[in-house]
Parts: sequence; C-alpha cells; structure tokens
Amino acid sequence: MRTTEDIVNKIKGKALLAPMLATTDIPFRRVCREYGAALTCTEMVSAAGILRSSSRSFRNAVFGPDEHPIAIQIVAADPDDGAAAAVELQRLQPDLFDLNCGCPSDRVCEAGAGAQLLDDLSRFGAIIEAVSNATTIPVSVKVRNRGINAKQSVRDIVRTAQDSGAAMITIHARTRSTPYGVAADWTHIADAVSVARIPVTGNGDIFSAADAFRMMDETGCHSVMVARGALGTPWIFRDIAQGRSSNIHEHAPEPAELHALVVQHLGSLRDEFGPIRAVPRMRKHALWYARRFQESAALRRALFADESADAVLDATDRYFAAEPRPLDPDGSDGRRIEAAFRERVLYWIASVLQTQG
Ligand SMILES: Cc1cc2nc3c(=O)[nH]c(=O)nc-3n(C[C@H](O)[C@H](O)[C@H](O)COP(=O)(O)O)c2cc1C
Repeated sequence: MRTTEDIVNKIKGKALLAPMLATTDIPFRRVCREYGAALTCTEMVSAAGILRSSSRSFRNAVFGPDEHPIAIQIVAADPDDGAAAAVELQRLQPDLFDLNCGCPSDRVCEAGAGAQLLDDLSRFGAIIEAVSNATTIPVSVKVRNRGINAKQSVRDIVRTAQDSGAAMITIHARTRSTPYGVAADWTHIADAVSVARIPVTGNGDIFSAADAFRMMDETGCHSVMVARGALGTPWIFRDIAQGRSSNIHEHAPEPAELHALVVQHLGSLRDEFGPIRAVPRMRKHALWYARRFQESAALRRALFADESADAVLDATDRYFAAEPRPLDPDGSDGRRIEAAFRERVLYWIASVLQTQG
C-alpha cells in the first residue's frame, strides 16, 4: 500500500536534505545523514535517460543500503515516460519517488519538464497520477510556489497534487524567475498548508536552525528542506534535530571534528568517483567548507595548482589541520563571501547543466 503514513513514519525528524544536481551524491548524503538529515534525496534523474539506459542516469539514482529513508528524484516531461522510469527504478527500492516540478533551467523547461509542468495543471496532475500508479512506492512533488511567472496559485497546485495521488509536497517559495538574491516568500508555504491534506515541506533560505524553526512557526509546515544551507555547514541538521534555535556558527564543530569531517568527506568523493572525475566535486566542497575561514583564497590557489584528487585532498587536509581562524560572519569579508556563495551556486548549476549535454 502506498500511503502518506508509510513515508511519514519513516521520516524521523524535521529536516530533509534537498536534491541538488551534481552535489547530493552518496558521500554528501552520508555526511548529512550522519548529522541528522531525516530524509535525503538523489539529484534529479532524467526519466528519458533511464529509458535509454544511460549509465549516468542510473549512477545518479543508485544509493547505499545504509541510506534509507531515501528519495530518488525523477525529472520527466511526459506521464508515460515518468511512469516507465519509475517502474525501472523501483528495482532499487527507494522509499519515495520525488517528482521534479520546480527546476527553472531553460534546458529542462524547454523540454516541458521541471517548473514548466506547472504551466498546465492538468498535465501536472496527469504526471503525478501516472508515476503514483506505476509502482507501490509513494510519490512526493517538489514545486515552485506559483509556477511560471506567478501564473498559478499555490493552493491550486497543492489541491491538484493531492487529488492526483501525491503523498507529500515540497514548496520552494520562489517562482521560476525569482533569483536567489530575492528572499523566498514563505507566505506561500503557509497558503499551501492552509489547503493541504498531505504534509507540506517548506523550502527556501534556511541557513540555520533558527531559520528552520521560524519557517515552521510562521507557516505551520510539517518539515523543512535544506539545500544551500547544508553546503559546507552540514551540522545544520544536528542543530535542527537537537531543537537548538541557533545560528549556524554557534554550534559549529570544533577544529578537530571539522578537520576529520572534511578529510573523510573528500576522501569518500575520491573513492566514489575516482581520481579524475572526483576533482571538481572535491574542490567545490573544500571551498564551501573553507568559506567561513580566513585565508580561503590560499586554499583556492592550492586546489587549482594540481589536477589530482590526492593533491586536492592533501591541500585541504593541510589547510584544516592548521586550524584556520573563522571570519567574523558579521564583518564585511564574512558577509561578502557568504552573499557571493549564496548567489553564485546558481551559476555553477547552469554550467553543470550545459556540460552534462
Ligand atoms: C547546487 C544546486 C543544485 C540543485 N539541483 C536541484 C535538483 O537536482 N532538483 C531540484 O528539485 N532542485 C535542485 N536545486 C534546488 C534546491 O533543491 C532548492 O529547492 C533551492 O536551492 C532552494 O533551497 P535553499 O534556499 O535551501 O538553497 C538545486 C540547488 C542547488 C543550490
């Protein structure tokens, strides 16, 4: 039986890790789970890729036996393709399929998938119904709050999703065209909650446990989903799980814990992706961890001085072993670096989408 209760009972906590392209791979998901993420999710997996047996699409869907509960996110334009991909992927036995109805990229939307699905709610409903009926695995949907150019009401989106068989829904409180520089509008999450019979997960701009508890208080959402707020700061899940309404710096790991975490995470990336393919991911995570510290520019130079995974790991190991001093988060450097990180992550997604062909 595929019920909301089945999946809700498996999610033992309030903070979920968001799907992130080329980021929520097995090593990063494990880090977040160890810090208390109650559900993790693969990056988006193309239904078309699964149907043409693309090894990359299957690789993106695979997870370890220790990773439950886990969702595989499917991106599809066509109900039949979505359903056929779910049938293929059910062999992996994820706990949940998440349907991507929020990706804003031109490439995904021009193919009729991602946020484009919200342009026509009957097609949106049809794809949820098709994927839900294809297997016994529950289906959640991840949407932008008002579809393309704020055309839809979030209430209609929620009603359509639940009437079509969705077990859960995540609202990323931005429209397709809202940039990261504009604050997510959480009032749409509260609006979604007001009509929902299924659990609503709120998403957008959670960078600390304090933000998470504020979102739950202000909107009444069932849980929160964290994306950028977990990059380089995965202990956000521990703060939320422990009910600390704190900022991200208050309970940051001590230098020895942070050093061990970073070395273990980058080492797992090297082992998972191999000495060449792992390098871009290792560099990104190293810099995301280092952005809160002084002299991160020196680490950046060291990371790009050599193309091997071992050299990247050595440079990062040396940087964190030396216990770099934290930047003042409220000082001008701390604020500038954090603002640039939050907005620039987008450019990285765009470049990944272009190079993934
Ligand atoms: C690097 C990166 C990759 C992303 N890839 C996906 C994806 O594959 N599927 C998806 O539904 N959303 C994706 N997103 C959007 C996030 O899941 C999330 O909805 C958005 O970043 C807002 O949450 P935040 O404010 O916590 O970052 C991605 C975001 C980032 C930063």
